[in-house]
Amino acid sequence: MILREALQSATQTLRRAGIADASVEAELLLGHVLGMSKTQLYTEPERSLASVETEHLWRLVRRRLDHEPTAYILEHCEFYGIDFFIDCHTFIPRPETELLVEKAVKLAHHIFHRGKQIVIADIGTGCGAIAVSLALALPQAKIYATDISASVLRVAGINCQRHAVNSRVELLQGNLLEPLPQPVDMIVANLPYIKSCEFRDLSPEIISFEPTIALAGGEDGLDKIQQMLEQMPGKLNCGACLLLEIGQGQGEMVTSSIKSYFPQASIELIFDLGGIERVVKVVHLSSVIN
Ligand SMILES: C[S@@+](CC[C@H](N)C(=O)[O-])C[C@H]1O[C@@H](n2cnc3c(N)ncnc32)[C@H](O)[C@@H]1O
Repeated sequence: MILREALQSATQTLRRAGIADASVEAELLLGHVLGMSKTQLYTEPERSLASVETEHLWRLVRRRLDHEPTAYILEHCEFYGIDFFIDCHTFIPRPETELLVEKAVKLAHHIFHRGKQIVIADIGTGCGAIAVSLALALPQAKIYATDISASVLRVAGINCQRHAVNSRVELLQGNLLEPLPQPVDMIVANLPYIKSCEFRDLSPEIISFEPTIALAGGEDGLDKIQQMLEQMPGKLNCGACLLLEIGQGQGEMVTSSIKSYFPQASIELIFDLGGIERVVKVVHLSSVIN
């Protein structure tokens, strides 16, 4: 079999099974098997595949037909223009979370003096996507990245090493803010926020493969966010701020919850490109509680 035929055949098989973006997924799987970029796939269409390569491709296609996400099959994904190693223990970073990073970088530049070290906490770091992205964008930042799961933190450690930010990103295992060794200037968090009743509507890719602990936010989706707000006293420096990712329809509840803890804080809801309220930005938290 030659490359062009393998690509066509994998695309058709995925498309018939109802996999969205079948051609992109087939390119990724074949590119992975052959160690070729997308461009190389199209410049060498007549290259023949060894039988071992064909078998490898079909093993991967079968995994995808069983609804395993391509990011788990390939053991990596791209976030904020950076390549991350991931495995089955970690949540797959989503493009919408890039908005959280973008706003955090902007806010860090805006409120902190150049040259001053900023201390940031990424709560529920997963594979370290947010922490590593912030460390690369903010060379003056010291970052604590916490997660409840030890296996997830091992993956985050690999990504910190890979992007040479391990001296500035400290990984801490524990419940939300509990492991932080010092007060911080900024908290950034993409915590689990799926409501219990929404689980039945999740795709098989999510429900059967992504870790429940990374998704489940309790009855109203806000259990972890609520717990984190309760833990905040004593964890913030003067002038501290918070950036939080939320799900569709959660803006009002999260805003009123934050107001009940921090009545003088300024809260802004930021919408993503799809018009969904996605990020809650809170400034002037600490004047009230420290
Ligand atoms: C939605 S995932 C986000 C992962 C990563 N920050 C991202 O945006 O790709 C939520 C993460 O929170 C972690 N988590 C869940 N409960 C936690 C808790 N009580 N304390 C700390 N981390 C928790 C999960 O293990 C998971 O890695």
